Amino acid sequence: MGLRDVNIGNYFKSEDNDSDKNNISNDNKNVNMKYLKLNNGEKMPALSFGVYEVDIKKTKDVVLDALDVGYRSIDNAQVYYNEKEVGDAIKESEIPREEIFLTTKNWVSNAGYDKTMKAFNKSLENLQTDYLDLFLIHEPFGDYYGSYRAMQELQKEGKVISIGVSNFNSARLTDLVMNSDVVPQVNQIETTPYFQQYETHKHMKELDILHQAWGPLSEGLDNLFKNPILVEIAEKYSKSTPQIILRWIIDRDIGGICRSMKKERMIQNIDIFDFELTNKEIEKIKEIDRNKSPFIDFDDPETVKEFNEEIV
Ligand SMILES: NC(=O)c1ccc[n+]([C@@H]2O[C@H](COP(=O)([O-])OP(=O)(O)OC[C@H]3O[C@@H](n4cnc5c(N)ncnc54)[C@H](OP(=O)(O)O)[C@@H]3O)[C@@H](O)[C@H]2O)c1
Repeated sequence: MGLRDVNIGNYFKSEDNDSDKNNISNDNKNVNMKYLKLNNGEKMPALSFGVYEVDIKKTKDVVLDALDVGYRSIDNAQVYYNEKEVGDAIKESEIPREEIFLTTKNWVSNAGYDKTMKAFNKSLENLQTDYLDLFLIHEPFGDYYGSYRAMQELQKEGKVISIGVSNFNSARLTDLVMNSDVVPQVNQIETTPYFQQYETHKHMKELDILHQAWGPLSEGLDNLFKNPILVEIAEKYSKSTPQIILRWIIDRDIGGICRSMKKERMIQNIDIFDFELTNKEIEKIKEIDRNKSPFIDFDDPETVKEFNEEIV
């Protein structure tokens, strides 16, 4: 069950061969997708397609387009309210379920052991599948310890291949690790050239938790795509600045998630596996870092209050 059993090149035959570590070819649309190894030995495509804020009415077609151009990892969440439409698209695509890496996230109103179990079953029903590749706690609020106990059980039962969290800072992560049997496989956090997350990344590496980046393009905020440092690098590689940003994520051994409603941009965003940034370029991009989210501060008590209001 899951990507681990799919015959994708020689990668799985050479688990310990560092020379091709994290790089395999797959045969969808000639995308030379890179794969990242999780701490449980599973593999995750380095670039996923996200469906946050994708209108329910458009979701099926958007996901069908994404699958058509070669994405094989879909990032969903209960709170996106479009799980059913994602499930419809996967079914209609006729791509075997095990060739798709499917993620959803447990929302704060479903925090706690019993509610998580119930919400998980509802997600499976919506997504029209009998297992998830990755199940994440969406936010570090409410009884997420209860949620995590449920997730560990689901993983033991084989209903979820990998488990993890999202929007956890280093302190929350450390506490969870010290009070759980399973070290989360993934922590999905906002990571963009404005908020590069070097410190949290280092900490996750120490804990052996894979860093996955949400919102890497920051929706182009504050002229991000026209930033002179990114433009100069983009010109060198004959790529667009969004492609440079997504490649920058991948070259830091982070998993990326991108979203576009437009098929030509979906194609552009996944066309990043034929070049690599140099360490010098990665260092140069550090100059843009504001070390602060342009959207949300999870450590602000007001944010915590707002999310907790969802629980009632
Ligand atoms: N765990 C969490 O709390 C969390 C939070 C936020 C997001 N996420 C996940 O991360 C995914 C990605 O984040 P996101 O959806 O916020 O944003 P994103 O992918 O960083 O940016 C999407 C925006 O950028 C535009 N865009 C995409 N490709 C472009 C290109 N090549 N050139 C110019 N503009 C481009 C899109 O517009 P068009 O559609 O018009 O192309 C859209 O407005 C989400 O869909 C979701 O799955 C998770």
